[in-house]
Amino acid sequence: MASNIRPESMQRITTPELANAFIEEQIKELRAQIGDKKVLLALSGGVDSSVVAALLIKAVGKQLTCVHVNHGLLRKGEPEQVIEVFRNQMNANLVYVDAVDRFLDKLAGVSDPETKRKIIGAEFIRVFEEEARKLDGIEFLAQGTIYPDIIESDGVKAHHNVGGLPEDLKFELVEPVRLLFKDEVRVVGKALGLPDNMVFRQPFPGPGLGVRCTGAITRDRLEAVRESDAILREEFAKNGLAGKVWQYFTIVPDYKSTGVIDGKRSWDWPVVIRAVNTKDAMTATVEDIPFSLLQHITDRIIHEVKGVNRVLYDMTPKPTGTIEWE
Ligand code: XMP
Repeated sequence: MASNIRPESMQRITTPELANAFIEEQIKELRAQIGDKKVLLALSGGVDSSVVAALLIKAVGKQLTCVHVNHGLLRKGEPEQVIEVFRNQMNANLVYVDAVDRFLDKLAGVSDPETKRKIIGAEFIRVFEEEARKLDGIEFLAQGTIYPDIIESDGVKAHHNVGGLPEDLKFELVEPVRLLFKDEVRVVGKALGLPDNMVFRQPFPGPGLGVRCTGAITRDRLEAVRESDAILREEFAKNGLAGKVWQYFTIVPDYKSTGVIDGKRSWDWPVVIRAVNTKDAMTATVEDIPFSLLQHITDRIIHEVKGVNRVLYDMTPKPTGTIEWE
């Protein structure tokens, strides 16, 4: 059994040279562990699972099968990028599962935040299990577990932990980045040639846009979340804030207010912008965004996003407000 304790002597991976040395060592270890057997990986497109995929592609190539489940709650362009990077550029075996209708049908009418999370988590395991059963001879399951997931009891990754697979599908685990901290995973990702917007991506919760479309999710309001989030990300990237602000996104609450469009009264949703800085996500401060940029983003959102007539900026630090709205 590989150790889950980081040795005190282990050097922090801070440079491309150290990352390359780590990659070479992991390739040897992965080949020794896996031999000529097959490995399965749930590839979300987040930095951890992407780095694990890239390492395994280098080590065992087509013995790896990546499964990317689109649950309909991903950000704009994410499934397309996963396919482009892993299938087209890295030539990986990638199974893309369009499970959008399945998830959204299960979530219809469900407004309790924890119930929504449970449905998303349980459905994810079910979809992944179905895909695993279609594949023959898989002996290993790769996971993007990182060191904070091991040392923090309520690891953020607990939600999409595939440990919930049934008994007869218990695979041997492959966790090549389990002793690394997030900043080290990013240095390794860069050395593996992954694109910057994948490597330096902000944290994104397992239930995705589902917790930003508050209350019962509807397809039209979910699109308003996705489109406004894409505008915010584009403007933050253009204005040098993307690498500077820890987490930034939009929320579309499930209530409406009166507005006026083309001389007529409208009854539409507000979009809330949230942009926070934090070290450990336990407390957070609000980013001081230039007023002119907020005005520009507002202008784009009210003109480009269907069903929206107002934009608000959430000024609340944590505490008292959590980072997500539900
Ligand atoms: P809160 O909202 O509790 O968020 O201040 C702290 C950090 O955790 C993320 N978060 C989640 N991540 N599954 C996840 O994988 C979840 O259910 C979940 N809820 C919150 C949130 O985005 C923030 O980075």
